[in-house]
Amino acid sequence: HVDHGKSTLLGRIYADTGSIPEGHVEKVKDICEKQGKPFEYAFLFDAFIEEQEQGITIDTARTFFNWKNREYIIIDAPGHKEFLKNMISGAARADAAILVIDAAEGIRQQSRQHGYLLSLLGIRQVAVTVNKMDLVDFDEKVFRKIEKEFAAYLKELNVHASYFVPASAKEGNNVVDKSDRMTWYDGPTVLQALERFEKLPPRADQPLRFPVQDIYKFDERRIIAGRVASGTLKVGDHLVFSPSNKTAVVRTIETFNVAVPPQAVSAGWSTGFTLDEQIFSERGEIASHVTAPPDGSSLFRATVFWMGSNPLKERLSYTIRLATREIEMKVVTIHNIIDADTLGTTSSSGQIPRYG
Ligand code: GTP
Ligand code: MG
Repeated sequence: HVDHGKSTLLGRIYADTGSIPEGHVEKVKDICEKQGKPFEYAFLFDAFIEEQEQGITIDTARTFFNWKNREYIIIDAPGHKEFLKNMISGAARADAAILVIDAAEGIRQQSRQHGYLLSLLGIRQVAVTVNKMDLVDFDEKVFRKIEKEFAAYLKELNVHASYFVPASAKEGNNVVDKSDRMTWYDGPTVLQALERFEKLPPRADQPLRFPVQDIYKFDERRIIAGRVASGTLKVGDHLVFSPSNKTAVVRTIETFNVAVPPQAVSAGWSTGFTLDEQIFSERGEIASHVTAPPDGSSLFRATVFWMGSNPLKERLSYTIRLATREIEMKVVTIHNIIDADTLGTTSSSGQIPRYG
């Protein structure tokens, strides 16, 4: 929820693991002093002026740090309701999540909604930090109450939090260093919880999916450009483009200023390649191996988190973004609606109410 201390927690993790460039903390402290406001760890990441002025995170910031031979990419999500979309795009590709709950304020609307989103996005590795324990005198009873209530809520969603960590991001308790103010707690610190999360199997091992971003004509060559969403693309691979169903073989993988062009590219990399014959494909098609193509259908069932300012209605047309393509679609049937706040189910009346 907004202001529960996510950015501060992140700032504290970086500061206490020595992951912040020499002098940066001092620089931000200096600026704060000049502007006559107290230093906040969150300022280390809230890059935009508006964010610092209002003390809230608007956009998701991606930051990197190394700890014990592992590389972490942390996405700091905004807690303000209006920026929930940013939180979703940030979280959609995460392997694990840390939910932050203010010990003094307790579980709030966005604590529940973000919990719900984790279940929708299929994020299975979850830790909950009960933050600002300094505001409740590091009282175990406050922590246990939140732990019990929130674990029960998550359980209904089929989400299991591996750890509940009582912490104070501001004071640096149980974030990187174990706190001597909460001797009643014998679980991991926030950083130790991160260490215990497992890296998910690489997407490179899954079937190839390559949404075509664009096709460039260079001299004689037509280069198909895009980002490998999953799997691995190799020279010599026999590809099919969906939905046109045209097939061809990968002739070259193209790169600039490289002596020996690569023979393969894997998930996560943007690349261009040429084919052995000139087939017509276009932006929005999905290339895959002929042996493992995607299922094709003009009708599918989906779980949707509706954030529109108008209701989502049956029989109306909407524009849907499918990888690199935007197309018209129509809602056929709304089967049931779950209120993310209460988790109560209402049967459909042909529309999902507007968000908020
Ligand atoms: P949004 O990104 O806007 O959702 O907020 P946030 O969750 O990132 O909160 P942020 O880190 O900006 O902290 C909000 C306020 O809570 C700041 O004034 C912090 O100093 C304060 N705060 C964060 N952690 C603690 C803590 O452990 N104890 C106390 N007392 N205050 C804290
Ligand atoms: Mg923030």
